[in-house]
Formats: sequence, C-alpha cells, structure tokens
Amino acid sequence: IHNLNTQSSVLNKYIAELRDINIQKDSMRFRRNIERIGELLGYELSKTLTYVAREVKTPLGTSKTKLAQDPLVICSILRAGLPLHHGLQNCFDEAENAFISAYRQHTSATQFEIKVEYLAAPSLEGKTLILADPMLATGKTFVNVLEAIKHLGTPKKVHLVSVIGAQPGIDFLNRELPVDYTLWIATVDPELDAHGYIVPGLGDAGDLSFG
Ligand code: PRP
Repeated sequence: IHNLNTQSSVLNKYIAELRDINIQKDSMRFRRNIERIGELLGYELSKTLTYVAREVKTPLGTSKTKLAQDPLVICSILRAGLPLHHGLQNCFDEAENAFISAYRQHTSATQFEIKVEYLAAPSLEGKTLILADPMLATGKTFVNVLEAIKHLGTPKKVHLVSVIGAQPGIDFLNRELPVDYTLWIATVDPELDAHGYIVPGLGDAGDLSFG
C-alpha cells in the first residue's frame, strides 16, 4: 500500500476540499479535485512501470531518455470512478480504457450486496491493470469487480487506485483478494460506520460528483 498522505504536500488541500461540507457542494471543484488526485496517484504509480532506453530527436540533436513500455488498461468503477479515470488518463494518455458498473443493493438498512452489471473492457491478458474507484469503504466493490473481470484474462500486474479508504476495507482486501496487487491511495480513515460508510470520510463521491 502506498498512502500518499503520509507526508504533507499540496495533496492535503485537495483532500481537505473534498471533505469540507461547504466546499464539496461545488461539484465542479469536487470532480476536479478527484481528477487532480488521480493525476498525482498516476504519477506515483508510473515510477513502478518498466522503462526502456529511447532516443528523442530534438531540433538540435538527440536526447537519451527512458520510456515506459507497459500496456496499460485503466478500468473505472461507475459512476464515482469517472473523474478519477480522467485524472489517470491525463497521466497515461495511451492507455486502453475499461468501464464497469457496481452499486450497493440494500437488503436491509445495514445489509447490502454489490451488484455488477455493465462491463466494457478489452482483453487484460498480460497487461497492467489500473482499477480506479475513489472510495474504498468495505472493499467489497473491488473484490466483486475483480471477480467479474476475471474472464478477460490474467493481468501481469494489478494496481488499485483510490482517493479515500477505511482501514477495515484495506484489511478486507488483504484477506480476500486472490491476486497480488498494489494499492495507491490518497488518504486512509480509521473506521466504517454501521452502514459501511467511511468515517470521517467525505460522504458519497458519486452523489457529490453527479448530484
Ligand atoms: C460507492 C463508491 C465505491 C463503493 C465503495 O459506490 O463509489 O464504488 O461505494 O464501497 P465498498 O468499498 O464498501 O464496496 P456507490 O454504490 O455509492 O455507487 P456510485 O459510484 O454510483 O455512487
């Protein structure tokens, strides 16, 4: 797990604005803050890709560099994943893209199942999968989504990208996910309430982004 908020940076401001009950009402700022956190998480994740030597011709000569070769697929979990997807796509403009829907279907006030319905995705075989969802509460969505895309092939590497998580959900992923993965997250809160919401959290990222 890479928790970006373990050191103070400009990220603190983006997270504070997402959480702030007065500022988060501005849904355009809310979406943009999720997007720019996606850009930062993507930048950190990019340091773990495989780089090969390349030369770039400039008007005045040749510059040696190293560029990542990994075939990437960014898969976002609808609907809250959309602004995070944009941020990751700003980083990885040549990535393939995938979308999957997941929502909580309540069976009682405190019990729910995760329903996965829509899926549009390329083959994942041998590729680097970046699975994006801004909220990691119980962790059930990530587990269910990975199960639902299993038939698309075995990725070479799985990265989970999230903005805010709850420690019990992170522990749940550690126990339940059958694949090796790296989690990139902007901040981690200590607990979940009886309804499975992150506390203190920020509310519902889907509603705050899309009303
Ligand atoms: C929220 C959130 C995550 C999920 C996290 O989605 O956006 O997808 O719950 O919860 P979990 O870790 O406990 O599974 P929601 O069902 O509200 O859908 P939305 O994105 O359409 O708002």
